[in-house]
Amino acid sequence: MRLILLGPPGAGKGTQAQRLIERHGIPQLSTGDMLRAAVAAQSEIGRKAKAVMDAGNLVSDDIVNAIVSERIDQDDCAKGFILDGYPRTLNQADAVEAMLEDKGLRLDHVIEIKVDDDILVRRVSGRFSCASCGTVYHDEDRQPKVAGVCDVCGSTEFKRRPDDNAETMRTRLRSYYRDTSPLVGYYHCKGTLRRVDGMQPIDVVTDSIEAILSAET
Ligand code: AP5
Ligand code: ZN
Repeated sequence: MRLILLGPPGAGKGTQAQRLIERHGIPQLSTGDMLRAAVAAQSEIGRKAKAVMDAGNLVSDDIVNAIVSERIDQDDCAKGFILDGYPRTLNQADAVEAMLEDKGLRLDHVIEIKVDDDILVRRVSGRFSCASCGTVYHDEDRQPKVAGVCDVCGSTEFKRRPDDNAETMRTRLRSYYRDTSPLVGYYHCKGTLRRVDGMQPIDVVTDSIEAILSAET
C-alpha cells in the first residue's frame, strides 16, 4: 500500500503515520524527519536545509525529490510506504508520480487531514518530544505521566523543534496554503483524494483513516 498523508503543519500526519506503521507493517517516509537527520549529521544537504527549515520555508524540490527517490528504492519500501510531508508542491507531486511510474507502481491513497488554523498553531507551539525515542508530547494536553520522564523509554531528555513557535508557524502555514494546498485539487481531479476530520481525538482520526483504507483495498 502506497499512501500520502496530506495536511498543514500540526495536522497530525506524523502521529497517524506512526500508528499506521504498526498496523500495516510499512515504513513512514517523513521528509521533515529525513531533513532534520541531515541537519543533525551536518551533511551538505543538512547545511543547505537548516536555515530554510528554521525560517519555516520549503527546502528546494530538487533536494527533497532526490532524498525520496533514494529512500523508496530501499528494501523496506517494497511492500509500500506512508509519505508524510511529501509531496508538498505540484512539482513534487509530478516527481513522485514519475518515480512510481518508472517502477510500474502507483499511489493507492491520498488522505487529507483537515484542521483549523488556530488549533494548528496551538498544537505546534506546545509540542515537545523525547530526545531518545521521539515520543511526542504537548505542554497542555499530553504531558508525560511522571513529570520529566518519557512514558515509553524512561529518558529524561526532551527536545523542541526550532520551527515550532508561533512566528515560524505563520510562515509554515503561508507556505502550506500557497504551495501545498493546490495538491488537494490535483489529487481530487485524479480521484484519489479522501478527507478526514483531524480535529477529532487521535483514535477517532485513526479509525477514519482505517475505514478509508479498508473500504478501498
Ligand atoms: P515537517 O517535519 O514535515 O513538518 P510539518 O509538515 O510542518 O508537520 P509537523 O511535523 O509539524 O506536523 P504533523 O502534521 O506531523 O503533526 P503531528 O502528528 O506532529 O517539515 C518541517 C520542515 O521541513 C518544513 O517546514 C520544510 O522546511 C521542510 N520540509 C519537509 N518536507 C518538505 C518537502 N516535501 N518539501 C520541502 N521542504 C520540506 O502533531 C502535532 C501535534 O498535535 C502533536 O503534539 C500531537 O500530539 C498533536 N496531535 C496530533 N493529532 C491530534 C489530534 N487528533 N488531537 C489532538 N492533538 C493532536
Ligand atoms: Zn522516550
